[in-house]
Amino acid sequence: MAKITYIEHNGTSHAIEVRNGLSVMEGAVKNNIPGIDADCGGACACATCHVYVDEAWTAITGSPSAMEESMLDFANELQPNSRLSCQIKVTDDLDGLVVRMPESQH
Ligand code: FES
Repeated sequence: MAKITYIEHNGTSHAIEVRNGLSVMEGAVKNNIPGIDADCGGACACATCHVYVDEAWTAITGSPSAMEESMLDFANELQPNSRLSCQIKVTDDLDGLVVRMPESQH
């Protein structure tokens, strides 16, 4: 279980307990948090689950895979800490994680 804080582009913050094994995207979608569309349902095929991982957490969430990297090219407003949230698996190590959503996923 990890408490994850999702911060919408307008600054609205949602702190949610997410079960291990789910993805950061699933934690948002299951809790109706706006700002993550996840059109492909987590298959790393849409880039509409784009988030910015808080700088303090980028070492723990790790780097994107080659497949995620190529999909990220389709995301808007890419930053060095951009990730596809369906590709980040929740574990106890992510307790306290903070992610921010971009202004738009399209
Ligand atoms: S949900 Fe489609 S790439 Fe993450």
